[in-house]
Formats: sequence, structure tokens, C-alpha cells
Amino acid sequence: MQRTFSIIKPDAVRKGHTGAVLAMIEKASFQLVAIKKLSISKRQAAGFYAVHAQRPFFNSLTDFMSSGAIFVMVLEKENAIADLRKLMGATNPANAEEGTIRKKFAGSIEENTIHGSDAEETAKFEIGYFFAGYELA
Ligand code: CMP
Repeated sequence: MQRTFSIIKPDAVRKGHTGAVLAMIEKASFQLVAIKKLSISKRQAAGFYAVHAQRPFFNSLTDFMSSGAIFVMVLEKENAIADLRKLMGATNPANAEEGTIRKKFAGSIEENTIHGSDAEETAKFEIGYFFAGYELA
């Protein structure tokens, strides 16, 4: 079993897509280990996305991620990290395959509905950024 970290982003929450995204995740056999609704500050978004600090889209990304409620969650299944990224589809929804979450719901490369960890180490950092150990028991 492997755990990954995911965020349902402000665009999806605002448009009322949270339930539909969660349904796709559950249908793909992920166990929902933990989930909570948050509104994060620009500073908290910057800490989460620190690896992208030098990218030209960083300022806009952190504005977007702090623009409304999000759902942060920990998901579990075999091969969770790769399988979630496959289910999410390409970062740019214009390139996302049919049947993926981003193809269905994402409006742009920035407002792309869902985040998923890209590797084991990243998943550890991202889970620890938003969840305490007692929330994952
Ligand atoms: P995510 O998978 O959460 O990781 C970093 C985020 O930055 C990404 O999803 C998008 O929301 C955003 N992003 C990545 N590339 C670009 C880009 N070229 N322009 C704007 N936003 C981007």
C-alpha cells in the first residue's frame, strides 16, 4: 500500500465539483485516509509550493490557491502516487486524456482542479505539511 497527498483546488470547490471529483477517486479504488476543508493564506500556499518559487507563475499560483476553500486529503492504494496522477490527467487540461479529472473539470493550466504528489518524498513532505500524525491513524 502507498499513500499520496491530494488537493481539490479552489476552482473545483467554487464550481461545486468536489463531490464528483471524490466520486472519481473512490471509483478508482483509492481509500480516503483523511480529508479536511481549509482556506489557506498566500504565505501557506507559498510554503507548500516552495519548489516552484522561482517559476514565473508562482505569484499567480499562490494567489489562486489562497483565493477560496480547498480540500486537502491523504489517499491510499497500491501504486497510489502514479495512479492518482494518471487519473488526474496532464497539468494543462488541453493535453489531458478523456476520462481524466482535469479533462472533465479543469479550466486552465493554473486552475486545474486537483493536485497530486509526484513522488514518494514529495508525498511525505506534502502530507506532513497539512496533517498531523494523529489525523492519519
Ligand atoms: P500542481 O500539480 O498543483 O503543481 C504546480 C501547479 O502550478 C500546477 O498544478 C498548476 O496549478 C500550476 N502551474 C503549472 N504550470 C503552470 C504554468 N505554466 N502556468 C500557470 N500555472 C502553472
